[in-house]
Amino acid sequence: MQGHSTYTPNNGFTRWLERRLPIISMAHGQAVAFPVPKNLNYFWTFGAILMVMLVCQLLTGIVLVMHYTPHTSLAFASVEHIMRDVNWGWLLRYMHANGASMFFIAVYIHMFRGFYYGSYKEPREVLWILGVLIFLVMMATAFMGYVLPWGQMSFWGATVITNLFSAFPFVGEPIVTWLWGGFSVDNPTLNRFFSLHYLLPFVIVGIVILHIWALHVVGQNNPAGVEVKSMQQDTVPFTPYATLKDAFAVVCFLIVFAWFLFYVPNFMGHPDNYIEANPMVTPAHIVPEWYFLPFYAILRAIPSKLGGVLCMFGAIAVMFIVPWLDTSRVKSGAYRPLFKQFFWVFAIVCVGLGYLGSLPAEGTYVLWARVLTAYYFLHFLVILPVLGLIETPKPLPASISEAVLGKAGAAAAHKA
Ligand code: HEM
Repeated sequence: MQGHSTYTPNNGFTRWLERRLPIISMAHGQAVAFPVPKNLNYFWTFGAILMVMLVCQLLTGIVLVMHYTPHTSLAFASVEHIMRDVNWGWLLRYMHANGASMFFIAVYIHMFRGFYYGSYKEPREVLWILGVLIFLVMMATAFMGYVLPWGQMSFWGATVITNLFSAFPFVGEPIVTWLWGGFSVDNPTLNRFFSLHYLLPFVIVGIVILHIWALHVVGQNNPAGVEVKSMQQDTVPFTPYATLKDAFAVVCFLIVFAWFLFYVPNFMGHPDNYIEANPMVTPAHIVPEWYFLPFYAILRAIPSKLGGVLCMFGAIAVMFIVPWLDTSRVKSGAYRPLFKQFFWVFAIVCVGLGYLGSLPAEGTYVLWARVLTAYYFLHFLVILPVLGLIETPKPLPASISEAVLGKAGAAAAHKA
């Protein structure tokens, strides 16, 4: 996407560098001159919020590791040591733990923005697929991170989830033993989870770079869902417009983060994780962190273990092919009256699944989880393809400029 770039090196050093490594002009092109559709709303600030959260997780994590000990007999105590003895340790640890939750809040908003505005559609398929890949790696990272404090939920959560792999015929048991590095979740498991929990965020950074690269090749989608026609009419330069708007959104988001951090730092956690892991005592209810709950509900909804595992992974895998499942030529939900309704039903179903994931898997809860799981897959595999064929969308604006200013306004702007 070429746009308003006006960069010319203006001193000896930048001219010298430009001929050898044009990094300043690249940064200028991507973060200053990059053309941004002028009708973006605040849902388009969540990418920036996610980047801030990723950096926050990396920095707090790196310092936490300086005081943490990845050994079953010391891990729990070392976290307590961080909370009580290390200067600002409580803040670092709460930032990291609540930061993970905030990261998922932001990523779910970012993804649902994509679902609503059809941001996964041509030509943004690769951008979307990279996003889903980030989401997968984020979940793996969060899952392994939660094991590290070696509380009851860490231990039992790890036991339940790793055991799922035993559902696969023939290879299941050997895979679980291999994952554990032994015959139960124990010190080798904690060690490898620690190693991978440190490694994967850097893998996420790598995929995020590809994600942004892909974004900057095809340009941003926008609430109207019509592509940029005229750089002059339809876009504004990234700096100062998007930079300032992103900065404002980041500050608002950080205020909410700070509220959790300073007023209810344990709200999103589970009290059982303040009890040290004990392989001899199973907690009454083993529940994962809130951001896994919809998938956990799907897992438990299916009567067969293997079926549950396949559906749980299928629920994420299906997102990879959304660009081809949605057959509508119109991107934005704003111009798709039927899709808009189904979108909200789908959003409620996801929240409902999350709620059911937090309840014990018994009686009517399981029944409801089955209904909602069926609907989840129906949405992707039947509703999206069929809607595109039968729906009559509202007339689209001819351009982004027209979406913002109306027909007359766009014509006047064009003349000016
Ligand atoms: C660490 C996680 C992530 C980071 C840092 C990140 C970053 C960004 C940034 C900076 C943008 C441009 C600004 C914006 O549209 O908000 C963007 C756009 C986008 N992201 Fe992400 N993203 C992440 C995860 C995801 C995930 C999980 C998905 C989907 C499954 C996704 C899908 C998209 C799509 C489709 C766009 C283009 C949106 C449009 O132009 O309408 N991203 N991302």
